[in-house]
Amino acid sequence: MTPAFFEAAAAALPDCCRDRPPACGLILGSGWSQALTIDTPLLRLPYSAIPGLGASTVVGHAGEFLLFDRHGLRVAAFLGRRHWYEGAGWGPVVLPVELLRRLGARNLLITNASGGISPSLAPGDLMVIRDHINTVGISPLIGPVVPGWGPRFPDQSHVYSPALIDLLRKAAHDTGAALSDGVYAFTSGPGYETPAEIRAYAGMGADAVGMSTVPEATVANAAGLRTAGLSCITNMAAGISGPHLSHEEVIDQTRKTLPAMAALLDAFLARLAQTP
Ligand code: HPA
Repeated sequence: MTPAFFEAAAAALPDCCRDRPPACGLILGSGWSQALTIDTPLLRLPYSAIPGLGASTVVGHAGEFLLFDRHGLRVAAFLGRRHWYEGAGWGPVVLPVELLRRLGARNLLITNASGGISPSLAPGDLMVIRDHINTVGISPLIGPVVPGWGPRFPDQSHVYSPALIDLLRKAAHDTGAALSDGVYAFTSGPGYETPAEIRAYAGMGADAVGMSTVPEATVANAAGLRTAGLSCITNMAAGISGPHLSHEEVIDQTRKTLPAMAALLDAFLARLAQTP
């Protein structure tokens, strides 16, 4: 993650991306890309056109950058994400955050699919991330301080903006969706967790578990973006229910939950547009 790495990616974004700073950035994870139905975006760019980003190797991740206006807001959306477990390092994982920062985005919503740990969650539920536990113990902030990413030791007392959490709650109310809130545990993947790990994470206070979001949120928070995270609970975590876990099950559940996800995303943008 050298300055040249970020420069090359930023240079690949056409000038229209700089007409107006995006009011909101979106990074949409497993199964979430289809929740965004924008017929006439201002720009549609495949990840292959952005050096350093590269195509996601994971089914359910579209691999497209979209710029569009919605409810009067300029929105820059990354449809599909790269993960630490893909083995390409932190660069492609956090590049969307750095590009959004360079475009001047003030807010960021990150979405994912996750496994439910809390007994109050069930597949198909939507959960706003209140806080996280980084079980991996490594961070994309390790290394030389990156200009624009805040101090050496960033405060992480409120990685997820209380103001954006409030907007998500109001948006859920607008759409009639039940929205719980909870703590998200980040694991490296690509293996799903063992039942013993899930019992340990439950004891640590985790409500859901997944393989993403925390690296991007960590950088976004350090860089001063107001950040929110949203999980679609696609399965109960290992050892809680079901004989085994599969990515097909995850994608299948996001397909079923798609109408609620799409309505919530749109209502969130509408609510954000109403805030000063
Ligand atoms: N564990 C980790 N990541 C996941 C899960 C899970 O159970 N479900 C969806 N993503």
